[in-house]
Amino acid sequence: MCGIIGIVSNKSVSASIIGALKKLEYRGYDSAGISTISNGQINEQKCSGRVDNLEKILFQNPSRGDLGIGHVRWATHGIPNQINAHPHSSDVVSVVHNGIIENSDQLRKEYKEKGYTFKSQTDTEVITIMLTDFLKKNHLIDCIHKTLEKLEGSFALGVIFKDFDNLVVGARRGSPLAVGYGHNENFIGSDSYALKSMTNKISYLDDGDFCILYKEKVEFYNLDKKKINKEIFELSSEDNTAEKGDYRDFMSKEINEQSVTTKKCINEYLDKSRNEINIYNLPIDPSKINKIRLIACGTAYHSCLMAKYWIEEFTSLDVEADIASEFRYRKIKFNSNDLYIFVSQSGETADTYAALEKCKKNQVKTCGIVNVVESSIARMADFVLPIHAGPEIGVASTKAFIGQLIVLYLLTLKISKERGDINTEEYLKLVLDLKKLPELIEETLNKQNDIQLIARDFIKAKGTMYLGRGYSYPIAMEGALKLKELSYIHAEGYAAGEMKHGPLALIEDGMPVVVLAPKDRFFEKTISNMQEVIARGGKVLMITDDTSETMNENIRFKFQIPKTNSSINSFLLTIPIQFLAYHVALLKNCDIDKPRNLAKSVTVE
Ligand code: M6R
Repeated sequence: MCGIIGIVSNKSVSASIIGALKKLEYRGYDSAGISTISNGQINEQKCSGRVDNLEKILFQNPSRGDLGIGHVRWATHGIPNQINAHPHSSDVVSVVHNGIIENSDQLRKEYKEKGYTFKSQTDTEVITIMLTDFLKKNHLIDCIHKTLEKLEGSFALGVIFKDFDNLVVGARRGSPLAVGYGHNENFIGSDSYALKSMTNKISYLDDGDFCILYKEKVEFYNLDKKKINKEIFELSSEDNTAEKGDYRDFMSKEINEQSVTTKKCINEYLDKSRNEINIYNLPIDPSKINKIRLIACGTAYHSCLMAKYWIEEFTSLDVEADIASEFRYRKIKFNSNDLYIFVSQSGETADTYAALEKCKKNQVKTCGIVNVVESSIARMADFVLPIHAGPEIGVASTKAFIGQLIVLYLLTLKISKERGDINTEEYLKLVLDLKKLPELIEETLNKQNDIQLIARDFIKAKGTMYLGRGYSYPIAMEGALKLKELSYIHAEGYAAGEMKHGPLALIEDGMPVVVLAPKDRFFEKTISNMQEVIARGGKVLMITDDTSETMNENIRFKFQIPKTNSSINSFLLTIPIQFLAYHVALLKNCDIDKPRNLAKSVTVE
C-alpha cells in the first residue's frame, strides 16, 4: 500500500507527479503530498484526503522545480492527517515511503537521545532524521547505505536532497519499486502502471537495491554499494483499459467487462481447432505431481478455495488451499514433488510474496497466477500464468477473480487430462461448456436490475449471511467479503451445512440471507438448510438455476442464473453477488472504488 512517485527532468515536474499520484491512488487514499526542490529549498506540500485536495492546494500555491517526489498514503503508523502525510522533510532531505519500518520505535528513541525532534507519529520520519544525521559526515552513497542498513522491515523509498538538486534516490526492500526511462527525464514509481503514461521502458529494483536517478542516466547499486546493471523491459502496448469511460465507477465497469475478459482469457489458453489447453512446461510434469498447494489472500484466496474443489473433483491429486499470511509462518513440510501455486491480481501482495519467497528458499516448484505480469510475484515464480483481465482499478476485486477462476479451471483440466484422470470425452465436454461461458456471463450481467430491487433489504440490516455447499461455498465466502468491504455491513460466508452448529443462532426476523443453490448434487440439502433459515424469520435471496415455482412463496427473492454444467456455475453465481454488494454500497452512498480503510495493492504485512 501507499504509492510513490519520483521524477527528475529538464522541465517542471509537479503536474506529472499529480498525474502519476492519481494513477497510484488505488494503493492508498487517506492523504497525499509532494516535495520539489526549487531555489535551493525543499518545497513540501501535503494534505489529508485525496489527490484532488492536493491539486487544489497546488493550484493556489504551485510547486516549482525540475525534480520531486510524491506520495499517496494508506496509514500504518499514525492517524491519517496532514502532519502524518508524506513527504516527511527536514531542512536537507525529503522522504516518501511505502511499507513498514519495524524498528522505528527503537530508532526514534536513539535519535531523540541525540537531540532530534519528531513532528509526526509515522515510522517514516525516522528515515528523514537518519538521512539528515548521516549526511553531516558522509558522502551521498554512504549516507543512503548506512541509513538502509539500520532499517528493519519491508519498504520502498523515494528521497530528494536539498544540496543535490539534480537527483532523486529510490530504494527497495520488500515493497515494489520500478524505474522508468524517459527522454531527458527519469522516474521511479510503485508500479509500472503509474509510469506508463510517461514511458514504456522499465527496470525493476530487487530487494536491497537502491538507485540514483539523474535526468540523463540512472545508476543502480546493490546491498554492498556495488554498481550494478539492470535489464530494461519494454511494456506491452495493450490498449489502455484503465479509464472509466461512460461508467459511474471502475467497479461497475469491471463487473460489466467480465464476459469480454473471460472470452479473452479462454482464447489465450484454448487452441480453437484442437480444443487443447496451451499450458506447457509446468515446472513439474503433471504425472509426477504429488500434491498441489494454493496460496493467496482475500478474494484470490477464495479462487484458491474454488480450485481446491475442482482439483479434488477432476484429478487424483491431494490439494490444500492456504491463506498466505498464515502459510508464511507455518512449519510447512516442503516436498519437491509438490506444486505451489500463488494467486494474486496485483502480484505485489506482501504476504503472498513472502510465502512465495519461503517456497523459493526451500527449493520447491512454484507457479504464479497473476494479472500484472510485470509484478514481483510474476518475476519470482518459476512459471507464470497471466489472467489477461486488463487493469483492475476498483479496490474490490471482480474481473480478476473471474480471471483467476478461469485460469485455475483450465489448469485443473490440463493437469487432469495429462495425468489421465479424465478421459478425452469428459475433457472435451468440459472444454466445450467452458467455451459457452462468456455468453452465459453476458446473459447474467444483463439481469442486474433484478438485484437492484433486492439491495434495499440489506441497507438497514445488522448483518447478513451467505450460504452455499460444494462449489457454491467459496462463492458464498466471496459474496460476504464483497458486501463487507463495499457496504460496511457485517456479512459471513458459511458452508450451509455448518449453520446448525452455531451460526443459526444469529438468524432473526427479517435478517437478509443469501442462499446459493444451483441445481447440483447438493441442491436438496441446501434447500433444507434454506428452509431452516426461513423458519427462523430469515428473508432469503436465493440465487439458482432451478426454474421450478414450488418453493417461491417462502423466498423473498429468486435470482435466476442460466443453466450450465455444475462445475462452472460458480462463475454465474459470482455475478449477482458482485452486483448485490455494489448496489447496497451505492444505496448507502459508500465510495465504491475506494472503500474506507482499504487499498488495492496490500504491500504491508
Ligand atoms: O492483489 P491480490 O490479488 O494479491 O490481492 C489480494 C487481496 O488483497 C484482495 O483480493 C482483496 O481481498 C480485495 N480487496 C477483495 O475485493
